[in-house]
Amino acid sequence: MAQSTLQKRYHVTTFGCQMNEHDSERMKGMLDSLGYEEVAERGAADLILFNTCSIRESADSRFIAHLGEAKRLKSEDPQRVVGVGGCWAQSVKDEVFERFPFVDVAFGPGQIHRLAEFLTQDSLSAQGYFEFEGFPGHLPAKRERRFQGWVQISVGCNCACAYCIVPQTRGREVNRRPGELIAEIEGLAADGVREVTLLGQNVNSYGRDLPAAERTTFAELLGRVDSIPGIERIRYTSPHPKDMREDVIRAHAELPALCAHIHLPLQSGSSRILKAMRRTYNRQRYLDRVAQIREHVPDCALTTDIIVGFPGETDEDFAETLEVADQVGYDGAFTFIFSPRRGTDAAAMPNQVPHAAKRRRMEPLVALVQERARERAQRFVGRTMEVLVEGPSRTDPSRLRGRISHNKTVNFEGAGQPGELVDVEITAATSTTLSGHQRLLSSVSPR
Ligand code: 5AD
Ligand code: SF4
Repeated sequence: MAQSTLQKRYHVTTFGCQMNEHDSERMKGMLDSLGYEEVAERGAADLILFNTCSIRESADSRFIAHLGEAKRLKSEDPQRVVGVGGCWAQSVKDEVFERFPFVDVAFGPGQIHRLAEFLTQDSLSAQGYFEFEGFPGHLPAKRERRFQGWVQISVGCNCACAYCIVPQTRGREVNRRPGELIAEIEGLAADGVREVTLLGQNVNSYGRDLPAAERTTFAELLGRVDSIPGIERIRYTSPHPKDMREDVIRAHAELPALCAHIHLPLQSGSSRILKAMRRTYNRQRYLDRVAQIREHVPDCALTTDIIVGFPGETDEDFAETLEVADQVGYDGAFTFIFSPRRGTDAAAMPNQVPHAAKRRRMEPLVALVQERARERAQRFVGRTMEVLVEGPSRTDPSRLRGRISHNKTVNFEGAGQPGELVDVEITAATSTTLSGHQRLLSSVSPR
């Protein structure tokens, strides 16, 4: 029975983006410090938590299927606590309890730091916590991998993209102070972290709301992180093309630890649709940014997000998206079918694209993206690349898996330990993965 031991046990299921994964690590860190123990099976947990996402329809329905299991477990043992946090919870607020009466506590992404408070309430029933209180503050995070850490540099977003629910679920942008961030990353480095990912909804706008004495641009922050001993790799997500300035692009060429990868969300290749999306750049400005990246850091991997079927998107608009995807030649792309999110402007637009048309457009886009990614990946074949070992290969445990600076996964024969940087000679490449073998004698290794 779930209540039979003194030590309480918890299980967390995470949906959505890296920001959510990081939030889950913070929840876990907090629960561990409260004396809870993590268990792998939901059925063995006293506290069942879901960290939800509201970006994709499919995540929502997957989540509802998981909730069904939690309902069954709760009916078996009413002492169990079921909590629903994250963006979806924030977007529907107290409706969580109307739709799912067995849920005990619901909270938005701005309330994670109050998890302890929720859990020590005398009567924990149908409580909702959805305020924004600026920055949620420092919480101990439980890291999935000892050598990789995430650091949240900002929360919220001041953009007004017509399709996006984030400004509603995560509020206005609030930046953390640079001194606090550097101290946190120094602490992580001392604790064995070699790769750090800086997180924010729009990292490129970092620093603008800081007091004058502490004002630091994102490029300056990258420079300060780069100089921290022990930090070998720096990644960040997500950037916004409108704020991706030359200083950040130059930083990719100049800072040894900054990875050779930029995620530059396109969303659409049609200037007309970009305007309706309120992205504040057009096709040409986006392509100019890409050209600037290619000029300063020619080998840099470029990935993107694309939405298909935004309201009013015609076949001609979509053809422009295909053209841009072809012209840029991404190393990888996340493609999304537009899904109307309640309360966003796009959801209320009259000219919604029929689902069949969205699906029909998706196919050639995915095929094109994969083909170009496969071609791009061939540039690594024959090169010796530095790989951060992550563990055994998922498909063949006798091999290892890791990632190169360009964020491509490599499966290889070798003997490195997780967290080690090793040289791997790349012998083959598909659109998503590379394969090769470790070079035991140290050799020149282009990053
Ligand atoms: N429908 C489809 N895709 C969306 N995204 C954000 N909102 C929506 C929506 N309503 C995609 C964008 C964003 C990524 C994280 O999710 O491409 O960059
Ligand atoms: Fe992440 Fe956006 Fe989903 Fe929230 S809505 S979890 S920010 S992808």
